[in-house]
Amino acid sequence: MLKVGIIGVGTVGTSVAEILRDNADVISARAGVDIVVKSGVVKNLNKDRGLDISITDNVDDILNDDEIDIVVELMGGVEEAFEVVKRALGAGKAVVTANKALLAYHRYELQDIAKDIAFEYEAAVAGGIPIITALRDGLSANHIESIMGIMNGTCNYMMTEMTNNGVSYDAILKESQELGYAEADPTFDVGGFDAAHKLLILASIAYGIDAKPEDILIEGIDNVRSEDIAFAKEFGYAIKLLGIAKKDGNEVELRVHAALISQDEMIAKIDGVMNGISVVGDKVGETLYYGAGAGGDATASAVVANIIDIARSGKSTPMLGFDKPMEGSQLVLKPTA
Ligand code: HSE
Repeated sequence: MLKVGIIGVGTVGTSVAEILRDNADVISARAGVDIVVKSGVVKNLNKDRGLDISITDNVDDILNDDEIDIVVELMGGVEEAFEVVKRALGAGKAVVTANKALLAYHRYELQDIAKDIAFEYEAAVAGGIPIITALRDGLSANHIESIMGIMNGTCNYMMTEMTNNGVSYDAILKESQELGYAEADPTFDVGGFDAAHKLLILASIAYGIDAKPEDILIEGIDNVRSEDIAFAKEFGYAIKLLGIAKKDGNEVELRVHAALISQDEMIAKIDGVMNGISVVGDKVGETLYYGAGAGGDATASAVVANIIDIARSGKSTPMLGFDKPMEGSQLVLKPTA
């Protein structure tokens, strides 16, 4: 039996524990072993989460527990989470995280520290869409020419509701928080930073680029209003917040901003809390990935998939296409002034 400790039992953490409980039949058949959540770390001990697991507010109760094999990090934030993940790996525990902000800053260091210990993060990009697995494994024979798409479910949900149902920006942002789509600090969503974190993770896999959020152009949807979306629609366009990575010769351009897209394009038709990402490989051509980009169950589905993978292999499958920024690589980040 494998035992899991969840650090951060919020919307996603609760779904992880529920999926491991409710789908235990298929999970143990596919993993070849029973997997149970032993304990979870929370900030508020008084809230009932309806889970039959031991609850603590002390992260040491998981990190120092020799029975726990896999730590699921869902606490969010960057530096505190970095320390916790380092400690978990240092204690020989496999780690699964959905923390894209952490990975945007520390992905190469953590990959180095993990070495053979499993360190996985499928849920960090595009919720339930297995985009990391697709890029890392399915497309690994290709030079990646571009990655382009909707990488933030909250912004897409907000813009859809503003257009179709005339809901105000503030009201729909509040609803996104209540539904558990938005980040703890929703300026990460509407400011484009969350999409940028995801883009940087994908760019690492595709290009071995070690860029930080400060190095790339990031714009959000804070200035987009219903009227803009309505005007665009009148002229045959949709407005979408896009993450874009494009190889241009030896340079890779990375940017996040709202863009007008012709309504004939598939990405323009993606509404609601959904993500849609196009990846173009030099051999395979264009491939498209579509699915729920946020929400407890969709994100937890990817976390549990990583847990099952770890149970199967018992060791690390490096999640990055390159363990380090590619040495001798001709590819450099294209400056975006
Ligand atoms: N706040 C994120 C989003 C959650 O809306 O896409 C999933 O990463």
